Amino acid sequence: MNLLPRLTVIGTGYLGATHAICMAVMGYEVIGVDVDPVKIEKLASGEVPFFEPGLPELLTKALETGRLRFTTSFAEAAEFGDVHFICVGTPQQKGSHAADLTYVEASVTSLAQHLTRRALVVGKSTVPVGTAARLARLIRSQAPAGDQVELAWNPEFLREGFAVDDTMRPDRMVFGVTSAWSEQMLRAAFEPVLAQGVPVKVTDLATAELVKVAANSFLATKISYINAMAEICEATGADVHDLAEALAYDERIGGKFLRPGLGFGGGCLPKDIRAFAHRAEELGVGQAVGFLREIDGINTRRRARTVDLVVELCGGDVAGKRIAALGAAFKPNSDDIRDAPALDVAATLARMGASVVVYDPAAMDNARRQHPELGYGENAIDAARDADVVVLLTEWTEFREIDPDAMAAVAAGRRIVDGRHALDPAQWRGAGWEYRALGRP
Ligand code: UDX
Repeated sequence: MNLLPRLTVIGTGYLGATHAICMAVMGYEVIGVDVDPVKIEKLASGEVPFFEPGLPELLTKALETGRLRFTTSFAEAAEFGDVHFICVGTPQQKGSHAADLTYVEASVTSLAQHLTRRALVVGKSTVPVGTAARLARLIRSQAPAGDQVELAWNPEFLREGFAVDDTMRPDRMVFGVTSAWSEQMLRAAFEPVLAQGVPVKVTDLATAELVKVAANSFLATKISYINAMAEICEATGADVHDLAEALAYDERIGGKFLRPGLGFGGGCLPKDIRAFAHRAEELGVGQAVGFLREIDGINTRRRARTVDLVVELCGGDVAGKRIAALGAAFKPNSDDIRDAPALDVAATLARMGASVVVYDPAAMDNARRQHPELGYGENAIDAARDADVVVLLTEWTEFREIDPDAMAAVAAGRRIVDGRHALDPAQWRGAGWEYRALGRP
């Protein structure tokens, strides 16, 4: 056998594009496939269609090696690849908490029809447990090569903003397989990654699918836990910031994902916990993860409470007031606005009659497209011009570094809501600002 298997990556969004580029840089011949010709055109010409630190440079490097190509043709991909990675999205279904598997099913079917020789299809998308077994049957029935095509599951844990590092040096790999051959192919497909000593857990398909949703549920639970404590702090005058720091010294608890504030958003955590709860109900074990509904509820309340704080600082009514919203992306170092708490808060304030001016270092185009009704500033200071209240919604480093005096010089009032506990209250209060944060006196 050729030393390195040839790879295809189906779906070139945040996950797939990163995977395709990184694998090519690590020495593999890779074809990236997508049904969107515009995306494929951009990638082929060296442009990453989204914000991800470090990725544009790696795309240039990968294209220069000649090992990375892009296509919209499933026939070409099937002909080329030994291992095919499925990296398409599984968004939340409209009107339901279930995951929408349309893209997974369509891409697997489109590929399988052209598979005429031995190959491994590897699912990376986040799916409800049981999907992989169903897809394996689908592939066997659709592929001309029949049983020669196997399916494995390899969940992806990459975080936006750290996608390159998480792909090149993941903290663990999970291989859900049904044969020794599948495991061997996966090991060959990740040889340079595994050579660094990255631990691998080899398991069955269902467990591999579950690892992903279990991990994201745990992370969401941790965030909502500390935000629930923030609600208690608000009722008692205690300080959730100090509470979180004190808890973090206990190694069994740990400080990561224990940052209180506006809560979680993005294309993964919110929809993954909903889809997990939905799937558990289908399986008759809904009670086991019933707490995830509470986790979701706590998280949603953070957005409402942030709006309340702004209303309070406006003297009880935001109608006609000018609000500067710092941040639109669901987290810093990303231009992703899927289920972004920041934009949710900004749009709610606008619906209540406020004139909202948003600034985000990376997500302006995406935000404008989704929320044309909001105003947009050139930078943080520009957004704060004449603002009655400033509200920090995404903790970009450049917002942490804002000089309170410089902002005071343009704002109408010195009132700030720190939705992410990103600023130093003493510094802002010292500069004459009324500083408020959820769960802090
Ligand atoms: C997440 C998982 O971390 C990743 O492993 C999985 O593969 C995909 O989903 P991502 O969505 O990129 O990654 O973002 P993450 O860094 O996990 O942050 C999720 C949300 O939680 C963000 O909105 C962030 O602002 C929020 N968050 C995070 C908090 O509110 N508090 C914290 O302490 C940590």
